[in-house]
Amino acid sequence: MTTTSTTPATPGPAAGPGGTVLEATGVTMRFGGLTAVRGVDLTVDSGEIVGLIGPNGAGKTTFFNCLTGLYVPTEGTVKYRGTVLPHRSHLVTKAGVARTFQNIRLFANMTVLENVLVGRHTRTKEGLWSALLRGPGFRKAERESEERAMELLEFTGLDAKRDHLARNLAYGEQRKLEIARALASEPGLLLLDEPTAGMNPQETMATQELVRAIRRQGTAVLVIEHDMRFIFNMCDRVAVLVQGEKLVEGSPQVVQSDERVVAAYLGTPFEGEPGESEAAEVRAAEAREAGGTSSSGSGEGKKEGEGK
Ligand SMILES: Nc1ncnc2c1ncn2[C@@H]1O[C@H](COP(=O)(O)OP(=O)(O)OP(=O)(O)O)[C@@H](O)[C@H]1O
Ligand SMILES: [Mg+2]
Repeated sequence: MTTTSTTPATPGPAAGPGGTVLEATGVTMRFGGLTAVRGVDLTVDSGEIVGLIGPNGAGKTTFFNCLTGLYVPTEGTVKYRGTVLPHRSHLVTKAGVARTFQNIRLFANMTVLENVLVGRHTRTKEGLWSALLRGPGFRKAERESEERAMELLEFTGLDAKRDHLARNLAYGEQRKLEIARALASEPGLLLLDEPTAGMNPQETMATQELVRAIRRQGTAVLVIEHDMRFIFNMCDRVAVLVQGEKLVEGSPQVVQSDERVVAAYLGTPFEGEPGESEAAEVRAAEAREAGGTSSSGSGEGKKEGEGK
C-alpha cells in the first residue's frame, strides 16, 4: 500500500461526472487605474476541457493568476469543488488546482525527474526533517514518489530524458515537463497557459492527445491558447475574454460563428501579433520541410508567443 506518503490519484470528493470543479464568480482584478479583469464568471465541470481565448492583453493570464492564488482578486470569489480557495498558490495546489505558466518556470539546473519530484511535494506527508535525515519513512516515500514521477514522465513521453537537465530540453519538451510537474500534484483541475506556444505542428498534435488523456484520467482542464485549431478541436466549451470582460461563452461552434468574436478577435489580424507571426513561421518551416529542404533553421530558438 502507498498510503503513508501519497493521496489517491484523484483528490477530493465529487470526482464523478457532473460536479462543478471550478466556480469563479465576479472576478475583478485592478492594477491601479487599469482593470485587467472585470466581473468574470466562469465554471468548469468535472470531465470538461474549457478554453479561454482572447487577444493579447485581454486578461487571460491575470485571470489564471486570480484563480491560483498568485493574485488576490480585487473583487469576486473562486471556489474549487464548493470551497473558496485560499489566496496562496501552494495552498491552491494542495487543494487540487495545478497550473503551467506562459513563461516556463522550471528548475533549469535540475533533472527532468527532479522537476517532477518537486511537483509532488504537496502530496507527500514526509516533512523537511524527515527528508534531511533520510529516515526509513522518507526513503519509502521517496521511492513511491519516484515511481509516480516516472509514470508521469512516461505519460508525457519524457521518460527517456529523466536524467537530462531541464535547461537542455527542447522548448516543446520543457512545456511537456511543466505539464508533468503540474500533474505530479495529482490535481482535479489543471490550468494550462498557452501549452502549445512555440511548438511545431507535431508537438501541438501530441499535446492535444496528452490533454485528452489527462481528461480521461479524471482531471478537468482549463486552457488558454492562441491556436484556434487546438481550441476548437479540443474544448467542450470556450469563453472569450476581451479587454478583461467575458464577451461570449459557448460551444466551439457558437463561439466561432459569433460576429462579436470575429470582430474582436478572430477576424481582426493583429498587426505584429506575436502568436500569429510565430504560427506563420512554423507553417513556413513545415512547408519547407515537406518540400525536402530545411536550410534556414528558423524554427529553432523560437520564443513563446507573448507580448511581454
Ligand atoms: N502585475 C501587473 N501589474 C500591472 N498590470 C498588469 C499586471 N499583469 C498584467 N497586467 C496588465 O493586465 C492586462 C492583461 O494582461 P494579461 O497578461 O492577463 O493578458 P493576456 O490575455 O494573458 O495576454 P497574452 O495573450 O498576451 O498573454 C495587460 O494590460 C497587462 O499589461
Ligand atoms: Mg497571457
